[in-house]
Amino acid sequence: MFFEPDKYDHGFRYNPIKACVVPRPIGWISTISKAGLVNLAPFSFFNALSYDPPYVCFSVGVHTEDGGHKDTVLNIGETGEFVYSMATWDQRDQMNQTGLIVEREVNELDASGLEALPSKFVKPPRVKGSPVHFECTHFQTMILPGNKPSSDHHLIVGKVIGVHIQDDMITEDGLVDTLKMRPIARLGYKDYTSVDSVFQMEKTTPEDLLGKPQAAE
Ligand SMILES: Cc1cc2nc3c(=O)[nH]c(=O)nc-3n(C[C@H](O)[C@H](O)[C@H](O)COP(=O)(O)O)c2cc1C
Repeated sequence: MFFEPDKYDHGFRYNPIKACVVPRPIGWISTISKAGLVNLAPFSFFNALSYDPPYVCFSVGVHTEDGGHKDTVLNIGETGEFVYSMATWDQRDQMNQTGLIVEREVNELDASGLEALPSKFVKPPRVKGSPVHFECTHFQTMILPGNKPSSDHHLIVGKVIGVHIQDDMITEDGLVDTLKMRPIARLGYKDYTSVDSVFQMEKTTPEDLLGKPQAAE
């Protein structure tokens, strides 16, 4: 099948787009308002963009009920900082709870029974129990226009200025132990996955791709 998202409906009962880019890592993003209100929310339109220095991005839809901005967008606009915590299998239920749209006054981190850890350089807290945290400063926001105003998205890019990795998630060889962390990720619909298997591939050579090199002329 084929469809043009700008021109006509896909014809599926549920929009298939999210199921077509999988798995998507979940950025568990904590922010703080100018008045000091903490917010925590998961975003699966999330990824790392670079590493020297590292930048990360995530994309936030409009608040569907009243057409206003989500707390995360408002807070980053006010204070310019956020923290990424890795969402893992152990904290999947709390992660899910923090995805509820609630009043701005509600601190989802407290409400879901999680504990906060202070950050080193930025004001938003880290999620205790999460094995990885990135402290970030806001770099740029790009508005992605929706086909209707309630489909607009804010693509937020942040620069990572501090990286925390839980010591017991680092192997003796100095590698981050993905299987031990067991990150969760989003698929389409209500589906999720978690990293419970890993495989390796050696880097290939030009000969692997092109066959035996010809003798030099
Ligand atoms: C696993 C998961 C992934 C989500 N991914 C996104 C996303 O990428 N973008 C988005 O706008 N909302 C996403 N949501 C919904 C937000 O987390 C939800 O609207 C949240 O409450 C944000 O609101 P706040 O910033 O006002 O707290 C996701 C929810 C869940 C449970």
